[in-house]
Amino acid sequence: TPSIPVIAIDGPTASGKGTVAQRVAARLGFHYLDSGALYRLTALSALRKGIDLGAEHALAKLAAALPCSFQGEHILLGQEDVTAAIRAEEVGNAASQIAILTPVRKALYGLQLGCRKAPGLVADGRDMGTVIFPHARLKVFLTASAEARAERRYKQLIDKGFSASMDDLLKDLQARDARDSQREVAPLKPAEGANVLDTSDMTADQAVEQVLSWFAVIKN
Ligand code: CDP
Ligand code: CDP
Repeated sequence: TPSIPVIAIDGPTASGKGTVAQRVAARLGFHYLDSGALYRLTALSALRKGIDLGAEHALAKLAAALPCSFQGEHILLGQEDVTAAIRAEEVGNAASQIAILTPVRKALYGLQLGCRKAPGLVADGRDMGTVIFPHARLKVFLTASAEARAERRYKQLIDKGFSASMDDLLKDLQARDARDSQREVAPLKPAEGANVLDTSDMTADQAVEQVLSWFAVIKN
C-alpha cells in the first residue's frame, strides 16, 4: 500500500492537530487516525485497573489487546463510550507517561499502520511523520505558543463540562511538552522535510487551508 497517500500532522498538545487533521480528512474524503487516542485509551484502562504507569510489560499487554473501536466521532472501549473520559487532563498526563515506554509504542505500531486505507489517511500525533509514516506524502508540524495552547485547552475543557485552571493547564502543558520532546523513543520534533506551521495567530480553518494548499501542490 505504499501508494496510498498519508498526511502526517504532528505537534505539541493543543496545537490544533486533532481539529485540523479531522477537517483536512473530511475535505479530502480521507480516513482519520487520532493516534493520541490510542495512548489515552491505554492510559485510561491502566488507571482503572490500577496498573502502575511504569509497568511496561503489563501496559504493553494492555495496549496490544485494547478492545477499542472508532465509530465516527465516538470512541468505544469494550461497550463503553469513553469519548469524553479519555479527554480528561489526568488521562492525557498518564498517556504521556506511558508513551515513553518502548514496549507500549511497539504494541500500538501495527494498529496505526493498519489505518492506511484507500483513498488516503490523515494521521495526527507526535511521531506520525518521524516513525509511523516516514514516507508520508505530506508532513506537517503544527505549533503555537504555550499561552495560546493553554487558552485553547481551557476553553475546550470548560465547554466539555470539566473544571480547569489556566495556571495548572500552563504548567501541565509545559511539563508534557518537556516529557514528549526529551524522551529517548520517538521524541516530539519536526520530521525531516516537515512543513512547520505556527498557528498562534491563526484560526483552525486558516491552518486547514494552509495544509490543503500544501497537499494540492504535492499532488500535482
Ligand atoms: O491532544 P493532546 O495533544 O493533548 O494529546 P494526544 O495527542 O491525545 O496524546 C496524548 C499523549 O500521548 C501525548 O502527550 C504523548 O505523550 C502521547 N502520544 C505519543 O507519544 N505519540 C503519539 N503519536 C500520540 C500521542
Ligand atoms: O489535537 P491537539 O491537542 O493538538 O489540539 P485540539 O484537540 O485539536 O484542540 C485545539 C483547540 O484549539 C480546538 O478547540 C480548536 O478549535 C482550537 N484552535 C485550533 O485548533 N487551531 C487554531 N489555529 C486555533 C484554535
